[in-house]
Amino acid sequence: MPATSVIGLQWGDEAKGKVVDLLTENHDVVIRYQGGNNAGHTVRFDGQTYKLSLLPTGILHSHVQSVIGPGVVVDPRALLRELDSLEAGGIDWTGRLMISDRAHVICPWHLLEEAAFEAHRGSRAIGTTMRGIGTCYREKVGRFHAIRMGDLVNRDRFAARVREIVPFKQIILDALIPDGEKLNAEQIIEEYSACADRLRPLVADTTAWLLNALEQDRRLLFEGAQGSLLDVDHGTFPYVTSSNSSGCGIHSGSGIPERAIDSMIGVAKAYTTRVGGGPFPTEQDNDIGQRIRDAGNEYGTVTGRPRRCGWFDAVATRYSARISGVDTIAIALLDVLSGLGDLQICEAYDIGGTVTRDLPACPDALRAARPVFRTVPGWNEEITGARTFEDLPQNAQQYVQTLSELVERPVQIVSVGPDRDQTILLSPLPGTETGPECRRDS
Ligand code: IMP
Repeated sequence: MPATSVIGLQWGDEAKGKVVDLLTENHDVVIRYQGGNNAGHTVRFDGQTYKLSLLPTGILHSHVQSVIGPGVVVDPRALLRELDSLEAGGIDWTGRLMISDRAHVICPWHLLEEAAFEAHRGSRAIGTTMRGIGTCYREKVGRFHAIRMGDLVNRDRFAARVREIVPFKQIILDALIPDGEKLNAEQIIEEYSACADRLRPLVADTTAWLLNALEQDRRLLFEGAQGSLLDVDHGTFPYVTSSNSSGCGIHSGSGIPERAIDSMIGVAKAYTTRVGGGPFPTEQDNDIGQRIRDAGNEYGTVTGRPRRCGWFDAVATRYSARISGVDTIAIALLDVLSGLGDLQICEAYDIGGTVTRDLPACPDALRAARPVFRTVPGWNEEITGARTFEDLPQNAQQYVQTLSELVERPVQIVSVGPDRDQTILLSPLPGTETGPECRRDS
């Protein structure tokens, strides 16, 4: 049975949630395998808008089992808030969510430490979401002070761990912020144990469960969070998140061998955005950037921060598609570019006189990269009603084809609006024999 994955090819917020949602009806299990509640997915479902952060998008579909895998970091308080808000919105998730006992737990000291580290970096701050993501992953790799979901749901073990860790953390926090908040071990134990009581029935060995599901031919859908350029190993380090947010994270974060995945879809916006710090060669910190921000409503789902906006960067997107082994791409938010006049696509970088199509590792080199732009004609027509590739104006078709050529991958999906039906399929979706309005490969 096919296993499919959806990953972002830029710096996150590529509208992966909509693509995952489209694919979900043809899959049985949706798996989050990295990141935590730093992610934000906005999904329009049954006429309602849901903002998901830690939960897999599949949770909205009553036939789907949702899994939070070992590579995710879980803030139990945030998870329960999200589950409660789903329930308030009429979504019954009972019996459809599993959380890996190997996933790590975000604790209050992670948030305090992160705030201190970011403050110390001053103008060089990473611009994190302040959810304790990086500090929790650091603990996992460091091992000494890590707590996993399997520990959280064992009341005595959890209490012992907190009593052991808190005094040590307090020394560090006092040194970093002398007049800062004090940790109270007993309060943390109370608050987290109350969460654990509600989460205990959901915590399980998801690795064994997923391996069995694969053997039983259940259709798995892996839902990436953030984007490949934020990958801790392969992204624009140090301005990245702390997990493998490219396709490279699927295996380590879920326990499912990568060869089980036979369809890898990379999602990219028709332009580029970034939140937080770090180099962004095609950024348009000008009127064009503002027009993109306004038309695309480019404000963070999690933090509400205005996103930095710029032209499509085919160098960075091609790099992401190559490292993740992407088969096809989905181009999202094409409608945002309507009426912008001539459009620019970055096809190479000029770094100190050397022209390259490779993404440099060093942030200074990326900061120095001058985009080599190809100027292409735009279109003025409203395209949100287009349902086939041929419905798009000629220049919009040409634009999509140029992106495909430069990223060196066929386009499978073009999205022209947030609703499900505002989607153009150019080839059948994985898990289906034929897709609706499936017209042709680009
Ligand atoms: P962290 O993941 O909170 O540590 O943040 C590290 C970097 O990743 C910051 O630049 C964040 O803005 C960015 N980031 C984290 N999650 C997302 C996301 O879901 N979309 C876009 N950027 C994100």
